[in-house]
Amino acid sequence: MSNSGTLTTLVERSLRHLNERTTDQSDATMELPVSDYLDDAIWRREMDALFMRRPLVLGYSAELKAPGDYRALTIRKIPLLLVRGKDGVARAFLNACRHRGTQLLDNGCGHAMRFACPYHAWTYDSQGALVGIYQEKLFGDVNKSERGLTQLSCVERAGIIWGILTPGIPLDIDAWLGSYLPVLDGLKIGEWHVAERRSLPGPNWKVAFDGYMEGYHFNVLHRPSVGKDTKGTMLGDQFGLHQRLIFAREGLRGFSDPTALPAVSDAVFPVHIIYPNVSIAGGYHDQMLISQILPGDTIDTSITLMTILSRNPVENDDKQRERMRKYADYIQAVIRDEDYLAADRIQATLSSGANRTFLIGRNEYPLQHFHRCLKQHRDSELPQAE
Ligand code: FES
Ligand SMILES: [Fe+2]
Repeated sequence: MSNSGTLTTLVERSLRHLNERTTDQSDATMELPVSDYLDDAIWRREMDALFMRRPLVLGYSAELKAPGDYRALTIRKIPLLLVRGKDGVARAFLNACRHRGTQLLDNGCGHAMRFACPYHAWTYDSQGALVGIYQEKLFGDVNKSERGLTQLSCVERAGIIWGILTPGIPLDIDAWLGSYLPVLDGLKIGEWHVAERRSLPGPNWKVAFDGYMEGYHFNVLHRPSVGKDTKGTMLGDQFGLHQRLIFAREGLRGFSDPTALPAVSDAVFPVHIIYPNVSIAGGYHDQMLISQILPGDTIDTSITLMTILSRNPVENDDKQRERMRKYADYIQAVIRDEDYLAADRIQATLSSGANRTFLIGRNEYPLQHFHRCLKQHRDSELPQAE
């Protein structure tokens, strides 16, 4: 394992594995307690330690292109409003009126410079300030400056809008991403265009997410679909908490001369894992699928938000839009009918007592890394609001 990697080096490393029928490996297999997926206390600790108190991917620069562009979404029962202010800054707010708490906007994307509450029409601007109170004289005194939308720590970096769901916890994105930042930056996500959005219900969030971090299943589960092109041969590089997986593509087979390799996008397929719950599949070619795996309301459910991005604009290009729609249909079906079907079949046996531990292979070590990081965060002190 190494963290090295110009694109050419990644292709050369992949070619070696492909020709030698090998893959990157860790030193040993790992036993993972099945109770990690079943124990309510562990689940609640993960919700608190990770989803409520550490930086999460909330959205993408590409969906907030202009001032007033917004996205409303719910994560862990927290209604959020992401909006680019008239000053150009992307912010994250709780999507809740400061009068009596009505959710301001239904989930979805749109454009507005003002947000009026549907209940009594208190109105907020694109930077969250309370700017209008209906029948203000009748209502009574309000200190407007104290009643702006509740803001969350939020920062825009590498084309991604990051935030922490508990108000007041500071967000140090450089510390969180560390050496991964230049890797993410290299994808230039901010320059891409949102083409399609989908969502998929699934089992326990870790059961669902585990499948994004190994290629061991490609040639079996995905034999009829993506396995035809993408091989289980894998490079796995860790950057602190986060990881980059590189899978060899069929186009690389048969090449022996490292100086005459095919284009990177034909040679390998990248998956970037943002800890703890996001996978970015693709990005070397002209399409990218970002999956946010969000825990559901109970331990045995999740919901995956899929955002399909296009390198080329789709707004005024019907052909490109249609191409992306087809890709979205295809990849959603693969994940639903292959990955999540398998994940459901894991969920179905969890509490049966068939396994007390799962065995995570040397060739599945990105999973080993993920579960070690999770344990470390569960066991460490909780970040506190300031
Ligand atoms: S709850 Fe929003 S204006 Fe009354
Ligand atoms: Fe898969």
